[in-house]
Amino acid sequence: MSTKTATSVACANIAFIKYWGNRDNALRLPSNGSISMNLDGLFTHTTVSFQPSLPFDELIINGHEVAGKGLTRISHILDLAREMAGIKMNAEVMSENNFPSGAGIASSASAFAALALASSKAAGLDLNEAELSRLARRGSGSASRSIPSGFVEWQMGTGDNDCVAVSIAPPEHWALVDCVAIVSAQHKKTGSTEGHALAWTSPLQAARVADATRRLDICRNAILQKDFEVFANIIEHDSDMMHSVMMTSTPPLMYWQSATIEVFHQVREWRAGGLPAAYTVDAGANVHVITLKEYAGEVEKRLRELPGVSNVLVAGAGGGAKLV
Ligand code: PMV
Repeated sequence: MSTKTATSVACANIAFIKYWGNRDNALRLPSNGSISMNLDGLFTHTTVSFQPSLPFDELIINGHEVAGKGLTRISHILDLAREMAGIKMNAEVMSENNFPSGAGIASSASAFAALALASSKAAGLDLNEAELSRLARRGSGSASRSIPSGFVEWQMGTGDNDCVAVSIAPPEHWALVDCVAIVSAQHKKTGSTEGHALAWTSPLQAARVADATRRLDICRNAILQKDFEVFANIIEHDSDMMHSVMMTSTPPLMYWQSATIEVFHQVREWRAGGLPAAYTVDAGANVHVITLKEYAGEVEKRLRELPGVSNVLVAGAGGGAKLV
């Protein structure tokens, strides 16, 4: 038995129609479908190497060894890859993010997408896009969407097999840009795994899920037709609906800070004044302000002038996970 190694990169993604809550927590089958855009330049780079001499799996993130829950979650994906490939070796996983983790920029999405690709390849498997998306999903639901390229829809499916993400348009289809206003670089207090488990404690979750097909159809069509006004209204509406569920869960989750809300007001004023910009927020305080490429400089400048915004990350639509 010799060492088997593979390296991959996968982009983070921003959800336009959000995934919140599971119908099966163990398999991470979502309560509703979701739509996102991969974020070019915000990525995780991961090397997996299965080594005959390793007594345990090892995880190194941004140069620091990680044990406990973080390692258990990684080992779960490695176990699935080992089982599929029929190998027993432990692995060393070295992973680097080029953006702050745990602050609503979905580091788990890029991390588990990169891990699914590198671990399956290193184990000797040649998985297709759907199989990779399914494997990534088991680590983090949103990671299933960082496997395909560009604008991506994660379909609910009927079970494990068809609950996968597919590309609905390539990155070059529409020059959208995400200007991420950083209002807090702190690690969020409640991670999304715990958060999903609380979703159904909110009386609003059933209404949110029942209405999901309507929102998915509006968002998908707005993307395909490049209709910014329709797109802006539906993504803000969907983000507000998810945060309403979060805030009304037991115990309640409040990810927003005062600067988050200040950005919402500004973005709506800018849009009313003719600047195409729309907000959406994942499980954190930072605000993703989506605009068109020709307005990205202006949006970034205005965001930087707001008190409470400490930095702005800018990303266009990115490609799918790939081996390097
Ligand atoms: O993939 P998870 O378990 O980290 O959940 C992601 C949840 C949100 O980012 C809030 C929404 C989404 O669809 O990405």
